[in-house]
Amino acid sequence: GMRCVKALQLTLALVKPDAVAHPLILQALHQKILENFIIVRKKDLLWRTEESERFYAEHTGRFFYQRLVEFMSSGPMRAYILAREDAITHWRGMMGPTKVFRARFTSPDTLRGQYGLTDTRNTTHGSDSIESAKREISFFFPEFNADEWMLKEEPYFR
Ligand code: PPS
Repeated sequence: GMRCVKALQLTLALVKPDAVAHPLILQALHQKILENFIIVRKKDLLWRTEESERFYAEHTGRFFYQRLVEFMSSGPMRAYILAREDAITHWRGMMGPTKVFRARFTSPDTLRGQYGLTDTRNTTHGSDSIESAKREISFFFPEFNADEWMLKEEPYFR
């Protein structure tokens, strides 16, 4: 149907292994994504430790690094490229705070507030800036050309 979108922005969203392991949670997350975004790409995948380490290189040395790297390569994940106006902020708002304690008590209606288990097993990830969205999109979808997609698809949504 007709849409009126000022300017589409792309973001990379990840459903982490804890959420993918539960079909009902995965389905609920997918449904919320459908209601809020244009799904540009979607891919189910399983990381080796090396990919997990490379993706989270900025956290090397943090106390949770080893735990995070192991967890993220412990089972299947789902990656999405999502588009909408202010996609980066919108997805991060839907996810809620990183720390599950904060999420539960300050934002119980967010994805992490509802489904998060711990600060590591916190259901989802989202790019935090335009730069990281670019990096993370090409990390998961190296063949994806954002400029080409925008030229072809964006006019359709105006
Ligand atoms: S921080 O503390 O502001 O640097 O946190 P943030 O940059 O938002 O993301 C840290 C990522 O590491 C994951 N992780 C943890 N963070 C904090 N504490 C503990 N114990 C922890 N364990 C894992 C956290 O889920 C963030 O993952 P992503 O995938 O980036 O959301």
